Amino acid sequence: MASINADPEVMKFFPKLLSRQESNAAVDKFKSLISNNGWGFWAVESTRDRTLIGLVGLHKPAYALPFGPCVEIGWRLARACWGQGYATEAGIACLDFAFNELDLSEVFAFTPDSNMKSRAVMERLNMENLQANFNHPTVPINSPLREHVVYQIDSRKWRSNRSVEQE
Ligand SMILES: CC(C)(COP(=O)(O)OP(=O)(O)OC[C@H]1O[C@@H](n2cnc3c(N)ncnc32)[C@H](O)[C@@H]1OP(=O)(O)O)[C@@H](O)C(=O)NCCC(=O)NCCS
Repeated sequence: MASINADPEVMKFFPKLLSRQESNAAVDKFKSLISNNGWGFWAVESTRDRTLIGLVGLHKPAYALPFGPCVEIGWRLARACWGQGYATEAGIACLDFAFNELDLSEVFAFTPDSNMKSRAVMERLNMENLQANFNHPTVPINSPLREHVVYQIDSRKWRSNRSVEQE
């Protein structure tokens, strides 16, 4: 995960690259949230050779958001693993878990307005652009990454799309 978090292309839409120490601290935090809650940002592995591809999962942001408190879905994959559908595949598993196991009523996703690859995953998951862009509270004020787009999906829409897909 440290090499993924240090890749400028992967981290293009984040305020900074993470050092190995910062990456390890983030992974420790994600692991402790999974231990405490039973869910979180999970490691994603290739089923072919069990190598780490990145992380995808569910998270409760600790900072205030215009649509919060909420549970978000997020993803970060190694550059070599883009373009193969892994984020969407893992995203489907996470939303199944969010609505079927956690019984959440809705899940949100947000990213800098210009992060078209992340937005495309949201759209492939049938999430809806709420047309309610906001300034991310933890991104520096003058950063071009501050304006975020927000997508959402509720349990009713997810279940009805999934039952059509599975027919
Ligand atoms: C956001 C991110 C996870 C998207 O990755 P991605 O590979 O584009 O998304 P997916 O894994 O869903 O793959 C979809 C692509 O795989 C292709 N694909 C190939 N085989 C596929 C399959 N079997 N099923 C689905 N899609 C497939 C799709 O056509 C699509 O290609 P396209 O981008 O050329 O249209 C990735 O760009 C990333 O990690 N970015 C850096 C971190 C980041 O910005 N995270 C979001 C911050 S909020």
